[in-house]
Amino acid sequence: PRPILLTRHGESRDNVRGRIGGDSVISDSGELYAKKLANFVEKRLKNEKAASIWTSTLQRTILTASPIAGFPKIQWRALDEINAGVCDGMTYEEIKKNMPEEYESRKKDKLRYRYPRGESYLDVIQRLEPVIIELERQRAPVVVISHQAVLRALYAYFADRPLKEIPHIEMPLHTIIEIQMGVTGVQEKRYKLM
Ligand code: F6P
Repeated sequence: PRPILLTRHGESRDNVRGRIGGDSVISDSGELYAKKLANFVEKRLKNEKAASIWTSTLQRTILTASPIAGFPKIQWRALDEINAGVCDGMTYEEIKKNMPEEYESRKKDKLRYRYPRGESYLDVIQRLEPVIIELERQRAPVVVISHQAVLRALYAYFADRPLKEIPHIEMPLHTIIEIQMGVTGVQEKRYKLM
């Protein structure tokens, strides 16, 4: 059995301001998580020579990975957060106030709702296919540092959760979800680092 470690990036400046999307850097608390994560990963994967760290192409995941030493890092555009299109950079409050129809349609069907000029959860699930194929092919452990919507979809795949639940799965910051794929099925452990 070899583990897959899933985690969101450390808290970003936009997380603090409640803004979705964007490409902000991480906050002081996010920096602290990055250090704790590095510590955890270096211990947990000490004898795993072939392990690798996968991030998105966005600053907040790359910065979260940066203190981790000793493993190759790979950036995947397919691991970037759901594209919120015209709503990128807004808060949920601003969307509700300025684009009430969009807000309501998303609330009604979060799985299928596509942001104007952006993506839906179904779009995200589809673009993750090559990542999943590559994850299945790996024999060594992989640490995936990505984003809330993307990790909901990846987690649902490995934990065998139904499609309709995906947009509502809890995916807290500063927590590692370790998935072990063995012959007897999938096992899961969680580490809340702060
Ligand atoms: O707020 C952080 C974030 O990653 C946003 O960038 C993204 O739009 C959102 O979470 C996805 O979560 P939800 O689908 O619940 O809006």
